[in-house]
Amino acid sequence: MEYKVSEKFRSLKPSAIREIFKSLGTPGSISFAAGNPNPDSFPVAAMKKIADEIFEKESVTALQYGITEGYAPLRKLVAERLKRVYGIGKEDDELIIVTGGQQGIELTCKVMCNEGNVVLCENPSFIGALNAFRSLGARLVGVPLKDSGIDLSALEDALRANPNAKFLYTIPTFQNPAGITTNLETRKAVLKLAEKYDILILEDNPYGDLRFTGEDVPTYKSMDTEGRVIYCGSFSKVLSAGMRIGFLCGNSDIISKIVVAKQVEDVHTNNFFQMICAKYLEEYDLEAHIAGIREMYRKKAGLMLGALDRYMPKEVGFTRPEGGIFLWCSLPERLSLDEFVKRAGDRNVFVVPGTAFVADPAEVSHSFRLNYSMPSDEEIDRGIKILAEIAGEMLSEDRS
Ligand SMILES: Cc1ncc(COP(=O)(O)O)c(C=O)c1O
Repeated sequence: MEYKVSEKFRSLKPSAIREIFKSLGTPGSISFAAGNPNPDSFPVAAMKKIADEIFEKESVTALQYGITEGYAPLRKLVAERLKRVYGIGKEDDELIIVTGGQQGIELTCKVMCNEGNVVLCENPSFIGALNAFRSLGARLVGVPLKDSGIDLSALEDALRANPNAKFLYTIPTFQNPAGITTNLETRKAVLKLAEKYDILILEDNPYGDLRFTGEDVPTYKSMDTEGRVIYCGSFSKVLSAGMRIGFLCGNSDIISKIVVAKQVEDVHTNNFFQMICAKYLEEYDLEAHIAGIREMYRKKAGLMLGALDRYMPKEVGFTRPEGGIFLWCSLPERLSLDEFVKRAGDRNVFVVPGTAFVADPAEVSHSFRLNYSMPSDEEIDRGIKILAEIAGEMLSEDRS
């Protein structure tokens, strides 16, 4: 049968990252392409104990339908932690549990946007969010990133050119894919622009807990006095990605609409994992657990940056993340990214080309994303050395 799928889905391509995973089976291959947390960050023994207890004592709550807003003890514990750690949560704010940050992002767009409405986003940005916005018929307008965060003058130009834009989607801390953190001065200026042009901000912060160097920067949400920011968080990178527990915090007027949208989508997030998450927060030391993950990623990021410093030709630029799991490399514009990625794949080293993350699919990218949470220490050194050799070869071919 010929499936006459909707126009929106006809133009959507499978994620380049998922496609790369198909080539990863070869023994000895090195992947810098993942976006996964390291499995050592899963507190398996604690979760097993909690799961057994839930089935012994509260199986009905785990197995019965729950409420759309989320398991009440988890909502309370997450709201308390957000207040304590991030200064987030005002009287008229509401916090709900969602099925991963991914659902929080998609639901926000679903509630805010009509077909053809503009969503502003950083360029490059998280492919899962961009595809969610595209699948809902939103039109993406990308705003470039600088080392200090989103480019303010480009943002103002975009706001002026798109006066009816529905919201700005931003990952201000340890951005995916660029690894950049928007500094405080820029955040304050973005909030002022958002006020001036009366636009909502969707602040996505799944990596915020993973700082391994430098100083914390206040979230947009903690500085928001007007209910202008919806904050999206997740336990994927600090407890388990497969658990699919995320949360949204925003003014109750907008969150109540999102609850209706969620009801239609999945009724509620999986009760069993909400309970596991709640009991972990209650009975174990999440902050100590996170400190261990930070230390692991501090070491891995240090190894990758050290290898880049040592091996990579100076013409290739790269960001120096202060946390999170990614960094972003940029080839000189005269080199072909496609050729670089192909040669890397031929030598069994996999990276994600920047084209996967651009707001406008027609844009040519010269950058690629490197992940350091998954590869082993040895793979990091060996893989970066190979990438550096390929960049060196291509540069010398270009000169000759
Ligand atoms: C920037 C960003 N936002 C949101 C998500 C979604 O995370 P999850 O749905 O697992 O909570 C990811 C996942 O990689 C991400 O990188």
